[in-house]
Amino acid sequence: MSRIQLEGLTRHFGSVTAVNDIWIDADDGEFLVLLGPSGCGKSTLLRMMAGLLPPTGGRVLLDGRDVTHTPPQGRDLAMVFQSYALYPHLSVARNIGFPLRARGRSRAQIKARVEEVASVLDLSGLLDRKPRQLSGGQRQRVALGRALVRDPGAFLMDEPLSNLDSKLRSTTRAEISALHRRLGATFVYVTHDQVEAMTMATRIVLMNEGAVEQVGTPEQVYDEPASVFVAGFLGSPAMNLVEAGVYAADGRLRVRSEGIDLPLGIDADVPARPVVLGIRPEHLVVAGEGDAGVRGVVSTVENLGSEEVAHVRVGSEGRMSLRGPRPLGLRAGDPVRLTAPPGRLHLFDPDSGRRLAWQAAPVTAPA
Ligand SMILES: Nc1ncnc2c1ncn2[C@@H]1O[C@H](COP(=O)(O)OP(=O)(O)OP(=O)(O)O)[C@@H](O)[C@H]1O
Ligand SMILES: [Mg+2]
Repeated sequence: MSRIQLEGLTRHFGSVTAVNDIWIDADDGEFLVLLGPSGCGKSTLLRMMAGLLPPTGGRVLLDGRDVTHTPPQGRDLAMVFQSYALYPHLSVARNIGFPLRARGRSRAQIKARVEEVASVLDLSGLLDRKPRQLSGGQRQRVALGRALVRDPGAFLMDEPLSNLDSKLRSTTRAEISALHRRLGATFVYVTHDQVEAMTMATRIVLMNEGAVEQVGTPEQVYDEPASVFVAGFLGSPAMNLVEAGVYAADGRLRVRSEGIDLPLGIDADVPARPVVLGIRPEHLVVAGEGDAGVRGVVSTVENLGSEEVAHVRVGSEGRMSLRGPRPLGLRAGDPVRLTAPPGRLHLFDPDSGRRLAWQAAPVTAPA
């Protein structure tokens, strides 16, 4: 069991700041997902947790113990990498048992434990094979087994599914989630795949350029993105983001841009100010007569099977997408009026990119 605390963790490579002053407190038993684009510092952060890379600054605590300068063997962690380096000349059983042999356990102990782990991972029938006689997904499970066999307090995994095809990815994803529930151990899992993050995480750490943009449950980061970056990173198609302005009309707040004029559902009388307006494609709906909302012309409609996505030209340069059950009843070339409920509109500060908490304290508050 392990609580993992990172205190101001920082890593430079020459003039590159790969990880910049990161503070994270992962509770015992959490499934923490580090999510972000390529090069944002996920692997660097994980390797510092594991003890494979010394930090330039900051501390790593495991169950309250400072392990910043403790080598990997002294940390009670198991790592699983994207490239699962199995020993090619050893059988599956010996690959899984390797960490126990290295620790000098008896043959009988090792055999019993390997069989237990193999049964959890559905590898019991494959114990005598060599890695080259296995599929990619089976090899991945052997690599997981080698991590599991020691019963560590925490698992650190760096894109462990990225070599698998999409079907195997989704079954192995479910297996890892089930494993987490069964073991109750702490998992820190690196991915740039938002579906993996949304489905597996108890909390997501969304990273950008070496820093944390937001830490929250999958619901929190999706429903209340803390920044334009988070808003644009999660969701498919991405959230519609438009430069706009908030203004008061007859004591009621509205948000406006070319082709857009939507009520915010708040009574306030404040000076106009610029914002970035965000609307998720699934929150735009075709409006009735009279609803001003969003006016545009449908440019294309894509069929996703159970749903459709319509791309709409708004104003002279704007584009918005709208997602809903098929058929949407829209055709390319159709003029269309759209609207979205006030509670589904996101506002961000155009300079800092941070979310404006306009529902709690209207946009009068200085950004
Ligand atoms: N050993 C190194 N020497 C110099 N720069 C490095 C080194 N390792 C990483 N970097 C740089 O640090 C930054 C973060 O790299 P990191 O591997 O942590 O990213 P990542 O989020 O894991 O990306 P990916 O999703 O592509 O694996 C990148 O700009 C990378 O080029
Ligand atoms: Mg990486």
